[in-house]
Amino acid sequence: MAPRTVHTRESLRVLLDTQREDGRTIALVPTMGNLHRGHLSLVECAAREADLVVVSIFVNPTQFGPGEDYARYPRTLEADLEALADSACSVVYAPDVDDLYPFGVDEAVRITAPPALANRLCGASRPGHFDGVLTIVARLLLVCAADCAVFGEKDYQQWLLIERMCADLGIATRIVRAPTVRDEHGLALSSRNAYLDERERRLAAALHATLLDLAGRLRDGRHDHAALAARGRAALAQQGFDVDYLEIVDPDTLAPASRTGQALRILVAARLGGARLIDNLDVPATRVL
Ligand code: PAF
Repeated sequence: MAPRTVHTRESLRVLLDTQREDGRTIALVPTMGNLHRGHLSLVECAAREADLVVVSIFVNPTQFGPGEDYARYPRTLEADLEALADSACSVVYAPDVDDLYPFGVDEAVRITAPPALANRLCGASRPGHFDGVLTIVARLLLVCAADCAVFGEKDYQQWLLIERMCADLGIATRIVRAPTVRDEHGLALSSRNAYLDERERRLAAALHATLLDLAGRLRDGRHDHAALAARGRAALAQQGFDVDYLEIVDPDTLAPASRTGQALRILVAARLGGARLIDNLDVPATRVL
């Protein structure tokens, strides 16, 4: 059955209160629309976690910096509703800016992201980005009061910060991390892949391949992290990427990893043509003998 679409937080609240009174649990999938297979897998994951799935579709102005792609970010509500028609989503919340920022964006109460986690990696080249993400996610969590909310692992730093926000502010919604969905060449699905032409799309698979190569070397016992990261950056640059960062970090703190044998995360962001692409890979802890 096609999901019910509401455009205001008031109508969403009324609808969800009724569902809760009937004993149903609720999972929220926040999105900025332009939905693809990756989003649909978040919906499937949400349906395994709760009785009712709400998908929010909102291109959030506060998480885009000056000169970023807020204006040209694809807004495709009709196609998104079609994509959700055969999914497990029951309710779509598609507000306009005034509904989520009723006092205006400039006068909005904002969340400041914790600097140690937020100012590195994507935060270093997108100042204020994670403040905007946490500001909108907090608003969505307040409006929905969902039992859980599902976020994709592709945006690892975002997921970590949302977890931290909920732990720090005592927000009861459980944060669920869903695995990255990739195309047949390994490219992580993202709405921004739409900015790639056919040739760039094939090239873009090198991002994941580079992470796999580095993960293999780490599993083989290499622990010269800085040299390995430099190797990855050079490989990508050689293939035409403009690398923003590639780092091997502690998965909980995002600080450069130092202990031998610890679990690691490799994170990368790089520009290719008109797209800024991100990806990451987990490297499980190895037993040190
Ligand atoms: O990951 C996204 O699409 C966005 O950052 C989110 C979480 C929907 C907030 O606008």
